[in-house]
Amino acid sequence: MSPSPVLRHHAEQQFAEELAELARADERPRPPNWRLSPWAVRIYLCGGKLASGFEVSAKYIGNVRLIEVAIATLATDRALLLYGVPGTAKSWVSEHLAAAISGDSTLLIQGTAGTDESALRYGWNYARLLAEGPSDRALVVSPMMHAMRDGKIARVEELTRIPGDVQDALITILSEKTLPIHELSSEVQARKGFNVIATSNNRDKGVNELSSALTRRFNTVVLPVPETLEQEVEIVAKRVAELGRALELPAEKPAIEEIRRVVTIFRELRDGMTVDGATKLKSPSGTLSTAEAISVINGGLAMAGYYGDGVMRGGDLAAGLTGAIVRDPVQDRLVWLEYLKTVAKERESWQELYRACMDVV
Ligand SMILES: Nc1ncnc2c1ncn2[C@@H]1O[C@H](COP(=O)(O)OP(=O)(O)OP(=O)(O)O)[C@@H](O)[C@H]1O
Ligand SMILES: [Mg+2]
Repeated sequence: MSPSPVLRHHAEQQFAEELAELARADERPRPPNWRLSPWAVRIYLCGGKLASGFEVSAKYIGNVRLIEVAIATLATDRALLLYGVPGTAKSWVSEHLAAAISGDSTLLIQGTAGTDESALRYGWNYARLLAEGPSDRALVVSPMMHAMRDGKIARVEELTRIPGDVQDALITILSEKTLPIHELSSEVQARKGFNVIATSNNRDKGVNELSSALTRRFNTVVLPVPETLEQEVEIVAKRVAELGRALELPAEKPAIEEIRRVVTIFRELRDGMTVDGATKLKSPSGTLSTAEAISVINGGLAMAGYYGDGVMRGGDLAAGLTGAIVRDPVQDRLVWLEYLKTVAKERESWQELYRACMDVV
Protein backbone atom coordinates (compact mmCIF):
# COMPACT_ATOMS: atom_id res chain seq x y z
CA MET A 1 0.00 0.00 0.00
CA SER A 2 1.56 3.33 -1.01
CA PRO A 3 1.46 6.10 1.62
CA SER A 4 -1.45 8.48 1.30
CA PRO A 5 -0.67 12.01 0.08
CA VAL A 6 -3.04 13.44 2.69
CA LEU A 7 -1.17 14.91 5.65
CA ARG A 8 -3.78 14.13 8.26
CA HIS A 9 -6.86 11.98 7.89
CA HIS A 10 -10.03 12.46 9.90
CA ALA A 11 -10.40 9.93 12.68
CA GLU A 12 -13.23 8.12 10.87
CA GLN A 13 -11.00 7.69 7.82
CA GLN A 14 -7.86 6.71 9.67
CA PHE A 15 -9.65 4.19 11.85
CA ALA A 16 -12.29 3.06 9.36
CA GLU A 17 -11.35 -0.58 9.77
CA GLU A 18 -11.63 -0.49 13.55
CA LEU A 19 -14.98 1.28 13.34
CA ALA A 20 -16.28 -1.30 10.87
CA GLU A 21 -15.10 -4.23 13.02
CA LEU A 22 -16.70 -2.68 16.07
CA ALA A 23 -20.00 -2.13 14.26
CA ARG A 24 -19.95 -5.78 13.19
CA ALA A 25 -19.28 -7.06 16.69
CA ASP A 26 -21.65 -4.65 18.40
CA GLU A 27 -24.95 -6.17 19.45
CA ARG A 28 -25.75 -3.83 22.30
CA PRO A 29 -28.51 -1.24 22.13
CA ARG A 30 -27.56 1.93 20.30
CA PRO A 31 -29.08 5.32 21.07
CA PRO A 32 -31.12 6.55 18.08
CA ASN A 33 -28.95 7.38 15.08
CA TRP A 34 -25.70 6.32 16.78
CA ARG A 35 -23.34 4.26 14.63
CA LEU A 36 -22.20 2.26 17.66
CA SER A 37 -23.46 1.43 21.13
CA PRO A 38 -21.93 3.28 24.08
CA TRP A 39 -20.13 0.02 24.90
CA ALA A 40 -18.44 -0.06 21.49
CA VAL A 41 -17.67 3.66 21.56
CA ARG A 42 -15.80 3.09 24.81
CA ILE A 43 -13.77 0.27 23.29
CA TYR A 44 -12.99 2.49 20.31
CA LEU A 45 -11.66 5.22 22.59
CA CYS A 46 -9.94 3.18 25.28
CA GLY A 47 -8.94 0.13 23.24
CA GLY A 48 -9.71 -3.56 23.71
CA LYS A 49 -9.97 -6.94 22.08
CA LEU A 50 -13.11 -8.09 20.31
CA ALA A 51 -14.50 -11.63 20.50
CA SER A 52 -13.19 -12.18 16.95
CA GLY A 53 -9.67 -11.51 18.23
CA PHE A 54 -9.54 -8.11 16.50
CA GLU A 55 -7.49 -5.58 18.49
CA VAL A 56 -8.86 -2.08 18.79
CA SER A 57 -6.13 0.46 19.54
CA ALA A 58 -6.48 2.87 22.45
CA LYS A 59 -6.95 6.47 21.40
CA TYR A 60 -7.20 7.89 24.90
CA ILE A 61 -4.87 6.63 27.60
CA GLY A 62 -6.13 7.42 31.07
CA ASN A 63 -9.20 7.06 33.23
CA VAL A 64 -11.79 4.92 31.42
CA ARG A 65 -14.52 6.13 33.74
CA LEU A 66 -14.14 9.69 32.46
CA ILE A 67 -14.65 8.50 28.92
CA GLU A 68 -17.73 6.52 29.98
CA VAL A 69 -19.22 9.61 31.59
CA ALA A 70 -18.49 11.60 28.43
CA ILE A 71 -20.14 9.01 26.20
CA ALA A 72 -23.14 8.56 28.47
CA THR A 73 -23.64 12.32 28.54
CA LEU A 74 -23.94 12.40 24.78
CA ALA A 75 -26.79 9.91 24.98
CA THR A 76 -28.76 12.35 27.17
CA ASP A 77 -30.19 15.76 26.40
CA ARG A 78 -27.16 17.45 27.89
CA ALA A 79 -24.19 18.53 25.83
CA LEU A 80 -20.61 17.64 26.73
CA LEU A 81 -17.91 20.10 27.75
CA LEU A 82 -14.36 18.76 27.83
CA TYR A 83 -12.33 21.00 30.06
CA GLY A 84 -8.72 21.00 31.22
CA VAL A 85 -5.23 22.39 30.87
CA PRO A 86 -3.78 22.67 27.35
CA GLY A 87 -2.62 19.47 25.72
CA THR A 88 -4.74 17.01 27.69
CA ALA A 89 -6.37 15.54 24.58
CA LYS A 90 -9.64 17.48 24.71
CA SER A 91 -9.77 18.07 20.96
CA TRP A 92 -8.44 14.59 20.32
CA VAL A 93 -11.16 12.93 22.42
CA SER A 94 -13.82 15.18 20.90
CA GLU A 95 -12.81 14.15 17.39
CA HIS A 96 -12.80 10.45 18.22
CA LEU A 97 -16.14 10.60 20.02
CA ALA A 98 -17.76 12.28 17.03
CA ALA A 99 -16.15 9.77 14.66
CA ALA A 100 -17.37 6.78 16.66
CA ILE A 101 -20.86 8.07 17.37
CA SER A 102 -21.76 9.84 14.12
CA GLY A 103 -19.11 8.50 11.74
CA ASP A 104 -18.29 12.15 11.08
CA SER A 105 -15.89 14.34 13.05
CA THR A 106 -15.89 17.22 10.57
CA LEU A 107 -18.88 19.24 11.79
CA LEU A 108 -16.55 21.58 13.57
CA ILE A 109 -16.79 25.19 14.66
CA GLN A 110 -13.55 26.78 15.80
CA GLY A 111 -14.25 29.27 18.56
CA THR A 112 -12.33 32.54 18.40
CA ALA A 113 -12.90 36.07 19.63
CA GLY A 114 -14.20 36.78 16.12
CA THR A 115 -16.70 33.92 15.93
CA ASP A 116 -20.11 35.38 15.14
CA GLU A 117 -23.60 33.94 15.34
CA SER A 118 -23.60 32.83 11.73
CA ALA A 119 -20.92 30.28 12.57
CA LEU A 120 -23.23 28.69 15.13
CA ARG A 121 -26.54 29.29 13.31
CA TYR A 122 -26.48 30.03 9.61
CA GLY A 123 -25.31 32.68 7.21
CA TRP A 124 -26.33 34.02 3.83
CA ASN A 125 -24.89 33.92 0.37
CA TYR A 126 -25.24 37.64 -0.20
CA ALA A 127 -25.22 37.54 -4.00
CA ARG A 128 -28.18 35.15 -3.92
CA LEU A 129 -29.83 36.98 -1.07
CA LEU A 130 -29.78 40.23 -3.04
CA ALA A 131 -30.85 38.61 -6.29
CA GLU A 132 -33.60 36.33 -4.96
CA GLY A 133 -34.34 37.48 -1.44
CA PRO A 134 -34.18 35.06 1.47
CA SER A 135 -34.61 31.50 0.30
CA ASP A 136 -33.33 28.05 1.12
CA ARG A 137 -30.86 28.42 -1.72
CA ALA A 138 -29.43 31.61 -0.29
CA LEU A 139 -28.96 30.09 3.15
CA VAL A 140 -25.43 29.08 4.15
CA VAL A 141 -25.76 26.12 6.45
CA SER A 142 -23.41 26.04 9.47
CA PRO A 143 -21.84 22.82 10.75
CA MET A 144 -24.25 23.10 13.68
CA MET A 145 -27.25 23.15 11.38
CA HIS A 146 -25.82 20.21 9.43
CA ALA A 147 -25.46 18.25 12.63
CA MET A 148 -29.03 19.06 13.66
CA ARG A 149 -30.46 18.07 10.29
CA ASP A 150 -28.53 14.82 10.13
CA GLY A 151 -28.74 13.86 13.80
CA LYS A 152 -24.97 14.00 14.29
CA ILE A 153 -22.47 15.37 16.77
CA ALA A 154 -21.36 18.98 16.28
CA ARG A 155 -18.04 20.06 17.78
CA VAL A 156 -17.27 23.50 19.15
CA GLU A 157 -13.57 24.04 19.81
CA GLU A 158 -12.47 26.56 22.45
CA LEU A 159 -15.99 27.53 23.42
CA THR A 160 -14.94 30.12 25.98
CA ARG A 161 -13.03 32.14 23.42
CA ILE A 162 -16.36 32.96 21.78
CA PRO A 163 -17.90 36.22 23.04
CA GLY A 164 -20.70 35.69 25.57
CA ASP A 165 -23.57 37.00 23.48
CA VAL A 166 -22.58 34.72 20.62
CA GLN A 167 -22.29 31.75 22.97
CA ASP A 168 -25.87 32.39 23.97
CA ALA A 169 -27.01 31.39 20.50
CA LEU A 170 -26.36 27.88 21.75
CA ILE A 171 -28.98 28.10 24.47
CA THR A 172 -31.98 27.65 22.17
CA ILE A 173 -30.16 25.02 20.20
CA LEU A 174 -29.34 23.00 23.29
CA SER A 175 -32.58 23.42 25.22
CA GLU A 176 -35.22 23.58 22.47
CA LYS A 177 -33.21 21.48 20.01
CA THR A 178 -34.39 23.76 17.24
CA LEU A 179 -32.79 26.45 15.18
CA PRO A 180 -35.32 29.08 14.11
CA ILE A 181 -34.80 30.74 10.70
CA HIS A 182 -36.84 33.87 11.17
CA GLU A 183 -36.20 35.20 7.67
CA LEU A 184 -37.83 32.14 6.15
CA SER A 185 -40.42 31.71 8.89
CA SER A 186 -39.12 28.23 9.35
CA GLU A 187 -36.92 26.23 11.63
CA VAL A 188 -34.64 23.24 11.72
CA GLN A 189 -35.64 20.67 14.30
CA ALA A 190 -32.75 18.55 15.45
CA ARG A 191 -33.01 14.89 14.58
CA LYS A 192 -32.28 12.26 17.17
CA GLY A 193 -28.57 11.64 17.55
CA PHE A 194 -27.76 15.34 17.53
CA ASN A 195 -25.62 16.65 20.36
CA VAL A 196 -22.71 19.01 20.94
CA ILE A 197 -19.18 18.45 22.23
CA ALA A 198 -17.41 21.62 23.27
CA THR A 199 -13.83 21.98 24.45
CA SER A 200 -12.35 24.70 26.55
CA ASN A 201 -8.99 25.08 28.20
CA ASN A 202 -8.50 26.51 31.66
CA ARG A 203 -5.86 28.94 30.47
CA ASP A 204 -8.71 30.76 28.73
CA LYS A 205 -10.59 31.04 31.99
CA GLY A 206 -11.84 34.53 32.43
CA VAL A 207 -11.62 35.28 28.72
CA ASN A 208 -15.31 34.65 28.26
CA GLU A 209 -16.76 32.57 31.03
CA LEU A 210 -19.71 30.38 30.22
CA SER A 211 -22.95 31.99 31.26
CA SER A 212 -24.81 30.09 33.95
CA ALA A 213 -27.68 29.48 31.52
CA LEU A 214 -25.28 27.72 29.21
CA THR A 215 -23.36 25.94 31.96
CA ARG A 216 -26.55 24.16 32.99
CA ARG A 217 -26.85 22.69 29.53
CA PHE A 218 -23.43 21.12 29.60
CA ASN A 219 -22.03 18.24 31.56
CA THR A 220 -18.39 19.02 32.24
CA VAL A 221 -15.74 16.34 32.09
CA VAL A 222 -12.30 17.47 33.22
CA LEU A 223 -9.46 15.76 31.38
CA PRO A 224 -6.46 15.62 33.72
CA VAL A 225 -2.76 15.58 32.94
CA PRO A 226 -1.50 11.98 32.91
CA GLU A 227 -1.35 10.64 36.42
CA THR A 228 1.98 8.84 36.36
CA LEU A 229 5.26 9.24 34.57
CA GLU A 230 4.85 5.81 33.01
CA GLN A 231 1.43 6.70 31.64
CA GLU A 232 2.73 9.89 30.10
CA VAL A 233 5.71 8.08 28.58
CA GLU A 234 3.31 5.56 27.06
CA ILE A 235 1.15 8.31 25.53
CA VAL A 236 4.15 10.14 24.11
CA ALA A 237 5.76 6.97 22.72
CA LYS A 238 2.53 5.93 21.05
CA ARG A 239 1.74 9.29 19.46
CA VAL A 240 5.34 9.86 18.37
CA ALA A 241 5.35 6.52 16.59
CA GLU A 242 2.05 7.31 14.85
CA LEU A 243 3.09 10.81 13.84
CA GLY A 244 6.54 9.68 12.72
CA ARG A 245 4.91 7.16 10.40
CA ALA A 246 2.52 9.73 8.98
CA LEU A 247 5.32 12.25 8.39
CA GLU A 248 7.59 9.54 6.98
CA LEU A 249 10.51 10.74 9.10
CA PRO A 250 13.70 8.88 8.12
CA ALA A 251 14.66 8.24 11.75
CA GLU A 252 14.63 5.18 13.94
CA LYS A 253 12.01 4.79 16.63
CA PRO A 254 13.27 6.85 19.57
CA ALA A 255 14.70 4.98 22.54
CA ILE A 256 12.21 4.83 25.37
CA GLU A 257 14.93 6.18 27.66
CA GLU A 258 15.13 9.34 25.59
CA ILE A 259 11.35 9.80 25.80
CA ARG A 260 11.39 9.14 29.53
CA ARG A 261 14.00 11.86 30.04
CA VAL A 262 11.96 14.48 28.19
CA VAL A 263 8.75 13.53 30.00
CA THR A 264 10.58 13.57 33.34
CA ILE A 265 11.89 17.08 32.68
CA PHE A 266 8.40 18.28 31.73
CA ARG A 267 6.76 16.70 34.76
CA GLU A 268 9.34 17.93 37.22
CA LEU A 269 9.20 21.49 35.93
CA ARG A 270 5.40 21.38 35.83
CA ASP A 271 5.13 20.03 39.37
CA GLY A 272 7.89 22.26 40.75
CA MET A 273 9.58 19.24 42.27
CA THR A 274 11.84 16.36 41.28
CA VAL A 275 10.13 12.97 40.91
CA ASP A 276 11.74 11.68 44.09
CA GLY A 277 10.32 14.68 45.93
CA ALA A 278 13.77 15.66 47.18
CA THR A 279 14.33 18.98 45.39
CA LYS A 280 11.98 21.91 44.96
CA LEU A 281 12.09 23.59 41.56
CA LYS A 282 10.75 26.74 39.97
CA SER A 283 8.22 26.27 37.18
CA PRO A 284 8.53 28.07 33.84
CA SER A 285 5.72 30.29 32.55
CA GLY A 286 4.49 28.08 29.71
CA THR A 287 2.45 24.89 30.09
CA LEU A 288 4.61 21.89 29.53
CA SER A 289 1.91 19.57 28.31
CA THR A 290 2.00 16.04 26.99
CA ALA A 291 1.27 17.51 23.58
CA GLU A 292 4.43 19.60 23.80
CA ALA A 293 6.52 16.61 24.83
CA ILE A 294 5.23 14.88 21.70
CA SER A 295 6.28 17.86 19.56
CA VAL A 296 9.73 18.05 21.14
CA ILE A 297 10.43 14.39 20.44
CA ASN A 298 9.07 14.69 16.92
CA GLY A 299 11.33 17.66 16.31
CA GLY A 300 14.25 15.66 17.66
CA LEU A 301 13.42 12.82 15.29
CA ALA A 302 13.36 15.19 12.33
CA MET A 303 16.77 16.58 13.35
CA ALA A 304 18.20 13.09 13.76
CA GLY A 305 16.68 11.87 10.51
CA TYR A 306 17.69 14.77 8.31
CA TYR A 307 20.91 16.07 9.89
CA GLY A 308 22.13 13.18 12.02
CA ASP A 309 22.54 9.46 11.58
CA GLY A 310 18.87 8.66 12.15
CA VAL A 311 19.23 7.85 15.83
CA MET A 312 17.80 10.53 18.10
CA ARG A 313 20.18 11.69 20.81
CA GLY A 314 20.49 14.52 23.30
CA GLY A 315 21.95 16.89 20.73
CA ASP A 316 18.89 16.51 18.47
CA LEU A 317 16.55 17.30 21.34
CA ALA A 318 18.33 20.19 23.04
CA ALA A 319 17.11 23.06 20.87
CA GLY A 320 13.48 21.90 20.79
CA LEU A 321 13.46 21.18 24.49
CA THR A 322 14.90 24.56 25.34
CA GLY A 323 12.45 26.28 22.98
CA ALA A 324 9.50 24.58 24.68
CA ILE A 325 10.64 25.49 28.16
CA VAL A 326 12.02 28.99 27.61
CA ARG A 327 9.02 31.07 26.57
CA ASP A 328 10.09 34.13 28.51
CA PRO A 329 13.72 34.83 27.56
CA VAL A 330 14.70 36.10 31.00
CA GLN A 331 12.72 34.31 33.72
CA ASP A 332 12.28 30.95 32.02
CA ARG A 333 15.91 30.85 30.98
CA LEU A 334 16.97 31.15 34.59
CA VAL A 335 14.54 28.42 35.62
CA TRP A 336 15.85 26.11 32.92
CA LEU A 337 19.50 26.85 33.72
CA GLU A 338 18.91 26.14 37.38
CA TYR A 339 17.21 22.87 36.53
CA LEU A 340 20.06 21.84 34.25
CA LYS A 341 22.73 22.65 36.82
CA THR A 342 21.08 21.28 39.91
CA VAL A 343 19.13 18.32 38.54
CA ALA A 344 20.20 17.24 35.07
CA LYS A 345 23.94 17.53 35.74
CA GLU A 346 23.72 15.15 38.68
CA ARG A 347 22.00 12.34 36.83
CA GLU A 348 24.32 9.73 35.46
CA SER A 349 22.72 8.88 32.12
CA TRP A 350 21.78 12.48 31.40
CA GLN A 351 25.22 13.84 30.63
CA GLU A 352 24.88 14.01 26.86
CA LEU A 353 21.55 15.79 27.07
CA TYR A 354 22.85 18.07 29.81
CA ARG A 355 25.82 19.22 27.77
CA ALA A 356 23.79 19.67 24.59
CA CYS A 357 21.25 21.81 26.45
CA MET A 358 23.96 23.90 28.10
CA ASP A 359 25.28 24.66 24.62
CA VAL A 360 22.01 26.14 23.40
CA VAL A 361 20.45 27.72 26.47
N1 LIG B 1 -4.31 10.94 27.80
C1 LIG B 1 -3.97 10.96 26.51
N2 LIG B 1 -4.18 9.88 25.74
C2 LIG B 1 -3.84 9.91 24.42
N3 LIG B 1 -3.30 10.96 23.80
C3 LIG B 1 -3.05 12.06 24.52
C4 LIG B 1 -3.38 12.12 25.92
N4 LIG B 1 -3.01 13.34 26.38
C5 LIG B 1 -2.51 14.02 25.33
N5 LIG B 1 -2.53 13.26 24.21
C6 LIG B 1 -2.04 13.67 22.89
O1 LIG B 1 -1.73 15.03 22.93
C7 LIG B 1 -1.99 15.63 21.69
C8 LIG B 1 -2.68 16.98 21.87
O2 LIG B 1 -3.95 16.84 22.34
P1 LIG B 1 -5.09 17.92 22.02
O3 LIG B 1 -4.71 18.80 20.90
O4 LIG B 1 -6.36 17.18 21.92
O5 LIG B 1 -5.04 18.79 23.35
P2 LIG B 1 -6.11 19.83 23.88
O6 LIG B 1 -6.49 19.38 25.24
O7 LIG B 1 -7.19 20.03 22.88
O8 LIG B 1 -5.21 21.13 24.00
P3 LIG B 1 -5.63 22.68 23.83
O9 LIG B 1 -6.27 23.08 25.13
O10 LIG B 1 -4.30 23.34 23.63
O11 LIG B 1 -6.54 22.77 22.66
C9 LIG B 1 -2.77 14.65 20.86
O12 LIG B 1 -1.92 14.17 19.85
C10 LIG B 1 -3.08 13.52 21.81
O13 LIG B 1 -2.96 12.30 21.17
MG1 LIG C 1 -7.77 21.64 21.70
